[in-house]
Amino acid sequence: MTIGFIGTGEITRAVVTGLSTVEGEKPAILVSPRNEAIARDLADRFENVAVAGSNQDVIDGAEMVCLALRPQDAVGILEGLKFGPAHHVVSFMATYGVEQIEKLTTPAQKVTLVTPLPAVAFHGGPTPIHPPHREVVDLFEPLGTPVAVETAGEYQALCVATATLAGAFAYYETIADWLAAKNVPADKAREFSGAVFYALAATAKNAPEHSFGDLTKESATRGGTNEQVLAHLKEDGAYRALSRALDGIWQRFEDAKS
Ligand SMILES: NC(=O)c1ccc[n+]([C@@H]2O[C@H](COP(=O)([O-])OP(=O)(O)OC[C@H]3O[C@@H](n4cnc5c(N)ncnc54)[C@H](OP(=O)(O)O)[C@@H]3O)[C@@H](O)[C@H]2O)c1
Repeated sequence: MTIGFIGTGEITRAVVTGLSTVEGEKPAILVSPRNEAIARDLADRFENVAVAGSNQDVIDGAEMVCLALRPQDAVGILEGLKFGPAHHVVSFMATYGVEQIEKLTTPAQKVTLVTPLPAVAFHGGPTPIHPPHREVVDLFEPLGTPVAVETAGEYQALCVATATLAGAFAYYETIADWLAAKNVPADKAREFSGAVFYALAATAKNAPEHSFGDLTKESATRGGTNEQVLAHLKEDGAYRALSRALDGIWQRFEDAKS
């Protein structure tokens, strides 16, 4: 199967890099000529990647076509293109629902929405998928953790949750900055804070049977320093603020539909 990409920007770079570095056989990939520098770089680095002459050539040369365009550009670009009934269209554009993409790519019969995170490039990305088409889940399986859901509402919620990455990095930046203010050299502060971040992620990954609530309780020894920090953050409304921020992104998605 050949996989095509229309819109060769940052997320296409990550997905194509991930797919081209899996163990064993790599899929044949055809990328659109724009962005020129990224398309050329991918074709130079990976034998399984070629640059198509045009967006229509991507469609004509691929069975699965991924749409990775900026949302504001998508309608104008897709209106000028012809899909066939056998195409499986995979849209990365979170603000478009299945029906909107079906309309823009008619008569294609199969449409799947996915929101890959850039970590798919090194096979560590979680990827929300809807609806749970097997061939798309299988494609993203070697790139990290595909999470395939049945309803549009569940998918929207997962997409909303992907808006928390910068906030999470800023949490560890706050710790690193605090350490540096206590005269820990900046590189050691960065190294230590990053290692704590990594250790927590590994702990959660290695114990999938434990809820985050369980892990929180296990880490907060009664009367200990972790319990004190947790209580302080709760008291100051840090977690309430995060829930409210997620509600705000959910609303932004709702507003984009109308
Ligand atoms: N970045 C992420 O982490 C991420 C994750 C999941 C989903 N997404 C979604 O994926 C989509 C792409 O995001 P991105 O971050 O990859 O954006 P991006 O880097 O701006 O990529 C969009 C690409 O589309 C190209 N383009 C513009 N006009 C075109 C045309 N007529 N034909 C073909 N290609 C054209 C642009 O080329 P030029 O550079 O030449 O303008 C650009 O390289 C967005 O809808 C975004 O919401 C992004």
